[in-house]
Amino acid sequence: MDLSIIITLLSALGAYKIFKILFGGSKKSLLPPGPMALPLIGHLHLLGTHPHQALQKLSVKYGPLMQIRLGSVLSVVVSSPDMAKEFLKTHESKFASRPQSAAIKYMAYNCADFSFAPYGPYWKYMRKICMNELLNGRQLDNFWPVRTQELGFFMETILKNSVQGQVIDVGSELISMASNVISRMAMSTRCSGTDTEAVECRKLLKEVALLTGKFNLGDFIYVCKNLDLQGYEKQMKDVHKRFDYFIEKILKQHEAEAEAGGGADSDGRPKDLIDILFSISNNEEAEMKLTRENIKAFILDIFAAGTDTSAITTEWAFSELMRNPRIMKKVPEEVDFVVGSERLVEDSDIPKMSYLQAIVKETLRLHSPAPLAVRESTEDCNIEGYFIPAKTRVFVNIWAIGQDPNYWENPLEFQPERFLSNDACTSIDVRGQHFHLIPFGSGRRGCPGTSLALYFIHATLAAMIQCFDWKVNDGEEIDMEEGVGLTISRANPLKCKATPRFSQLPTWESS
Ligand code: HEM
Repeated sequence: MDLSIIITLLSALGAYKIFKILFGGSKKSLLPPGPMALPLIGHLHLLGTHPHQALQKLSVKYGPLMQIRLGSVLSVVVSSPDMAKEFLKTHESKFASRPQSAAIKYMAYNCADFSFAPYGPYWKYMRKICMNELLNGRQLDNFWPVRTQELGFFMETILKNSVQGQVIDVGSELISMASNVISRMAMSTRCSGTDTEAVECRKLLKEVALLTGKFNLGDFIYVCKNLDLQGYEKQMKDVHKRFDYFIEKILKQHEAEAEAGGGADSDGRPKDLIDILFSISNNEEAEMKLTRENIKAFILDIFAAGTDTSAITTEWAFSELMRNPRIMKKVPEEVDFVVGSERLVEDSDIPKMSYLQAIVKETLRLHSPAPLAVRESTEDCNIEGYFIPAKTRVFVNIWAIGQDPNYWENPLEFQPERFLSNDACTSIDVRGQHFHLIPFGSGRRGCPGTSLALYFIHATLAAMIQCFDWKVNDGEEIDMEEGVGLTISRANPLKCKATPRFSQLPTWESS
């Protein structure tokens, strides 16, 4: 070959290599675009107190698939429905794992839980138990009396406050009710009240939620690993010790009850999660041996994932109604039409209340309580021409997707009617099939508690409005500022006064 051709080819190759080094190279190694990173901390400083909001702002500049570095952890942020579909459906199997963290290691029995378990046989087995034994339609029906009774207690609290002219902290009462429902489903005890166990249970749940939501430097900056600069790991170990003491006591009570020939079947109470997990762990033929740690971690999972989320959504929905009298006015009309005033609203009424359903969808669109679904890739992958290496952390910005102006008209306005009158929206549901609205995530790691949560939110909201007229305490303004943490509740409590709508209210269980 002519020397000049060889020189030309070699220079072209050299130029290509230089171009590759400068601009990220071939499609296989081209990472998604993202802002300039600082040494050591990467983009941690950009997250602020509300990471979902900060990431949304950045995605306007860098696009629906953006790369950031959290300390030494390579991460991508997904901010549009189409891109979410790529990750959660088209390439689902590569993004079905979750990252590990100090919180999971120290609080969830050295990663014995299932919410954050790596995608694999253990997660599959626990997910099956969750779906087939705890949160399926039959088991939710079995717990219907529990939910109805807890709703009755909640209504009684509102009535008492109303009679005494007292202000009600709506969010705190809702959290109490949600904790009681989950606590009775998991271990047949309530966790409201003033006895030491109930107080400790509430305190523990709060601390677990707080610590899980913290950005622990050791999880992101390699040189900080095990240094516990912020003191969070020490707090996690302390919470773990106290949770273990608390849950062991309850497990032992269940064992003693069973030994004495009592327990679920003989007491007439529905089988709770502990009964179910014990019977699986005692079954020699079970597909997998469950350890005591697995059982305790699973209970912690259900508490952590299931309590705040439903209560927070109900409080956001109620806040939106209080700010929008036009919408609020329509709800009792619908409830009165479907239910009347003789009895309290029930689960079976919900499918007939399309306006109420639209309100809940609109709330989940604007105020998703879990704004970021977190996953981790298990193998290298190419998406839309970008290279996503194995072990990349993925944040699906559920909150940003719900407000994407390319898909939603007037995205910041609370307009439940969009789900009733707009043809493109009427068929949208929230269960992970429509990627414009995925408050419960999607695919095999999507939320297993969706049905329970929807029952809770619809029935509670409907009952509050069926029985009472509400006004904000002393005509205070209702702000919609978001709090901080893993789940996003209101920053400031919503305090209201209630007046019964009828001289004769429908009856409910109150003792
Ligand atoms: C409004 C209420 C709720 C919302 C908005 C919500 C949202 C979510 C989201 C976004 C995820 C991650 C999904 C993904 O990665 O694709 C999730 C996972 C999960 N949720 Fe919920 N959730 C709610 C209520 C509940 C309830 C009531 C329970 C149980 C009693 C529950 C149990 C779980 C569990 C165990 C996981 C982890 C599943 C896995 O990794 O396989 N959630 N939830």
